[in-house]
Amino acid sequence: MKMKSIIIPTSPPHARMPPPRPPMIVCICHNINAAQIAELAERHPCTLEEVIDCTGAGTCCGKCQWRIQAALQEPPPAEFYEATACA
Ligand code: FES
Repeated sequence: MKMKSIIIPTSPPHARMPPPRPPMIVCICHNINAAQIAELAERHPCTLEEVIDCTGAGTCCGKCQWRIQAALQEPPPAEFYEATACA
């Protein structure tokens, strides 16, 4: 009689997955992340100017405004994820 081998995992599947990554910071000056902008846009479709008014993002050095605009696009373009934090 041939026996089958059974592999028994030692930990539940979720324990073997890497921890979730924190949302990408879009505006360093005001510590606004992509999840906050996405939540804002989900509640009310908004423009770049409205996000700036609501969050203050983009009002200090202004270098993040293209990332705010990219975060508002559905889905965000690939360069949004490839971009590093504001230098
Ligand atoms: S990084 Fe957003 S205003 Fe400077």
